Amino acid sequence: MSAGIQLDDVCCDFGSFRAVDHATVDIKPGEFFSFLGPSGCGKTTILRMISGFIEPTSGVIRIGGQDVKGKRPNQRPTALIFQNLALFPLMPIWENIAFGLEMRGVDKAARRAKAEELLRLVDLPGAADKMVSQLSGGQKQRVAIARALAVEPSVMLLDEPLSALDLKLRQHMRAELRAIQKRTGVTFIYITHDQGEALAMSDRVGVMSQGRIQQIADPREIYNNPVNGFVASFVGENNIIDGTAGPAAGGLAGFDTALGGLRARISPEALGRPVKLYVRPEHTILTEAPGPENAVPVTVTEVSFEGAFISVLTQTETGKVLAAEIRNDGSATVPAIGAKLYASFSAERAALLPDATVRG
Ligand SMILES: Nc1ncnc2c1ncn2[C@@H]1O[C@H](COP(=O)(O)OP(=O)(O)O)[C@@H](O)[C@H]1O
Ligand SMILES: [Mg+2]
Repeated sequence: MSAGIQLDDVCCDFGSFRAVDHATVDIKPGEFFSFLGPSGCGKTTILRMISGFIEPTSGVIRIGGQDVKGKRPNQRPTALIFQNLALFPLMPIWENIAFGLEMRGVDKAARRAKAEELLRLVDLPGAADKMVSQLSGGQKQRVAIARALAVEPSVMLLDEPLSALDLKLRQHMRAELRAIQKRTGVTFIYITHDQGEALAMSDRVGVMSQGRIQQIADPREIYNNPVNGFVASFVGENNIIDGTAGPAAGGLAGFDTALGGLRARISPEALGRPVKLYVRPEHTILTEAPGPENAVPVTVTEVSFEGAFISVLTQTETGKVLAAEIRNDGSATVPAIGAKLYASFSAERAALLPDATVRG
């Protein structure tokens, strides 16, 4: 019912341009896996290779353990969903859903029964006899998913399916998609440039830049322990400080900067490479007295109320902007603009990271 997908050292070249660069990933049966990255990083190219619309230049793709080289899209157990749904406007919803079954010679009563079952699955019972024009954007999206599921694929490939919807609906559909995936147990490979979507829905995320998979991990790990500056910056906000790392001990290293000596975590892979210090605004604390470590004197330049938190921008003596976030839990004192404070952060909450891995 669901299949795993392996990419083994897969490259895809368009002429002299390498769109996917040595991608290796092992997606488990029944997993909700997302590829996350900016536009042009190679996400759609990966999906098109899995679905069989293009062949890799090199490397192997396996679906359910089988090398799929040379298999045409309709010979693969995959279904593809895009942003443009291409539903048939002159057919009722149930016929839209059952279209693929008709092509396979399933009789009308069985098609109708399957369509109704799938409409219940995507939470649209009673929509069978409606026309496409009577549905909202989110409902049409569900019909497209039901139609893709009708032919019982082992793998669903979703290419930015929510990007045409408005924000509220998009957030609602995240939970819906996740629930549908869990109910069916089908492997979902989801593509998005929206970090919120990827983190909220996925079992694991592969973060991509310039054709390279930078990190594969569960959402918490991606956010809390990004492997490089690209992942840290693409997923969430950071204060980024330039400097030079000293020797490491116990996973921490000193870091020489224009703001003075700082200290942060460093991973074995980053040792000996040029690094920058990354610390998230929510881990940057503002105090009147200097904190015990990593305390930088700053002046408050901007305070904005964001609802759940208060965003504070500060400037160091060297003119560098450091952002802090204060939780709006009633206990926080909101600093005044012009206040002279210390921005500090624990060494454990800051990381010395190299830049992204780029095309070799
Ligand atoms: N058929 C093609 N011919 C030439 N270049 C292509 C083709 N398809 C994609 N590309 C290029 O490959 C890169 C990756 O594209 P794509 O996989 O669509 O990125 P994403 O989906 O992450 O936005 C882009 O620079 C794009 O212009
Ligand atoms: Mg794309």
